[in-house]
Amino acid sequence: MCGIVGYIGEQPKALNVVLDGLSALEYRGYDSAGVAYLDNKKQLLLDKQVGRVQGLIDSLGGADLPPTTTAIGHTRWATHGIPTIPNAHPQSNTDKTIMVVHNGIIENYSELRDHLEKQGYKFVSETDTEVIPHLIDFYTRTTTSFVEAFEQALHQLRGAYGIVVATSAEPDTLYAARLSSPLVFGVAEDALIVASDPSAIMEHTKKVIYLNDYEFVCLHSDGSYDIKDFEHDTVVEREVETLEYDAAQASLGDYPHFMLKEIFEIPATLRSATLGRIKLESNTVKLGGLESVAEQLKYIDRIVIVACGTASYAGMYGEYLIEELAGIPVEVQQASEFKYRNEPFSRSTALIAVSQSGETADTIAALKKVESYGVLRLGVINAVGSTMTRMTDAGVYCHAGPEQAVASTKAFFAQATVLMLIGLYLSNGRSEIYKPLLEELEALPNKAKQVLDQADKIKALAEKYKDNRDFIYIGRGYAYPCALEGAIKLKEITYIHAEGYPAGEMKHGPLALIDENFPTFVIATDSKVLEKTYGSIQEIRARKGPVIAIATEGNTEIAKLADDVIYVPKSMEQTSPLLAEIVMQLFSYYVAVAKDLNVDRPRNLAKSVTVE
Ligand code: F6R
Repeated sequence: MCGIVGYIGEQPKALNVVLDGLSALEYRGYDSAGVAYLDNKKQLLLDKQVGRVQGLIDSLGGADLPPTTTAIGHTRWATHGIPTIPNAHPQSNTDKTIMVVHNGIIENYSELRDHLEKQGYKFVSETDTEVIPHLIDFYTRTTTSFVEAFEQALHQLRGAYGIVVATSAEPDTLYAARLSSPLVFGVAEDALIVASDPSAIMEHTKKVIYLNDYEFVCLHSDGSYDIKDFEHDTVVEREVETLEYDAAQASLGDYPHFMLKEIFEIPATLRSATLGRIKLESNTVKLGGLESVAEQLKYIDRIVIVACGTASYAGMYGEYLIEELAGIPVEVQQASEFKYRNEPFSRSTALIAVSQSGETADTIAALKKVESYGVLRLGVINAVGSTMTRMTDAGVYCHAGPEQAVASTKAFFAQATVLMLIGLYLSNGRSEIYKPLLEELEALPNKAKQVLDQADKIKALAEKYKDNRDFIYIGRGYAYPCALEGAIKLKEITYIHAEGYPAGEMKHGPLALIDENFPTFVIATDSKVLEKTYGSIQEIRARKGPVIAIATEGNTEIAKLADDVIYVPKSMEQTSPLLAEIVMQLFSYYVAVAKDLNVDRPRNLAKSVTVE
């Protein structure tokens, strides 16, 4: 979704840093981009373009960017108003003395706009953001300093925002504020760099400070900064944090797309999710992130997992496992639904938020909803330092490293593994599958690698089926959440209609869809319900539906039933569907490539969904 970068310092390289930062945020998805920067007469200049950041760079002079010490930039993912130059950010006041970049949504913008229009302010865009520069302008008339006007404006804004403001009235300062939309600034040797995501800063400094809700910061060109909590009217002192960063993980290397690179990182992801956390010699699971709440966990009798999209399917996989391992009832709720439900919630319920980005607005809203309930809030989150990690009481990091392709792949495996570890931890060794699962977790990375070794076979399968318009993905038990994940992956990057279903549900409706043009992906890995899955395949075959099966090596039956079979190494009933998932993610990838689609940035989608 939208991205923000701002630079203020002593070197005239502000535009280079801002544009590099915007390029680093491109993976989040956007449709227009813009910058505002100070010229040598200390006036603010604006350049905005529809389309790629590269178009903006070309328009600004390519390799010959104007030298300036202050700049702010934005990539916009349209919410209010279609992608046009007037709707792109920065948005400004009429005199072009106040420029604003904004992520999030100003919910009371239409009320504010009416008020400002009555005061004579003229609006030139359809955006909610445009009220901000006009509102600040409005308050400059009645206050004695810009910072006061800025703060007064913040008090009027409702909704969610990460905002950075430049003003020609104070060319040596940038202003930034946050409410429910991430904002972080980096403290470099000769500059301060503010952004919505640390990946836009990492190249320049690893020293960062995250803003919390209801905080703003004044960033000065001499490297000093002042943070204020404007809800409680207090000055904030905050320690600088150090980012952990592996440059190789953020670049493509020899891969043509991030999605393929990230799928090939699945074995390493499985390994790092368990690293230092399982000990086979002592049969133990150690989760440092849960130690502080270990006592409270003993009294938990219900778990609610909240998440969106792929993370919710990992959550569903975790639901099955935690119930089987620990005997605690678990339910998964889509975060966007959870926040509007009025369900009973006791203090012995724990809420687990699962998220790759840690910034998904719906999941954040779910965590906020239970804030006053006094329940334990846990996180299974990948992005270190993200908003959710700071809203939860405790949690277990996924350690999947940066995920750049819009479609989530390796993060699903990290989330599923971490939830498995939580199930093992809560079971306290009591479950029959405790030890076998611990051992299987050790073996899984190598088995995942063996699946990846079949990439060419899966590519050929994708070539064969790439022109089909509809697919259904089915599985039973642990394979069902994986079927849902297989289907979402196909639809989001290939734009082919795909649905995930429990195999047993086919005869309750979906079977009516099946004919020779409607293929079914069947997860038919070894399990106690395999015979039943065969039954589902027979039903599909009887309607002439093509069947692509993913089965366990050594299964001699399946080839007689399915049109195509991909085999995965033998694993436990609980973990085999994860191996099948790798096949489905690769299949979607190769179909998208065969259709010449933008694999890493599918249309209409964004990586981090920071609006509700
Ligand atoms: C699917 C996908 C999305 C995300 C969802 C949650 O491939 O990427 O469905 O899984 O938007 O995002 P996070 O995990 O960042 O909360």
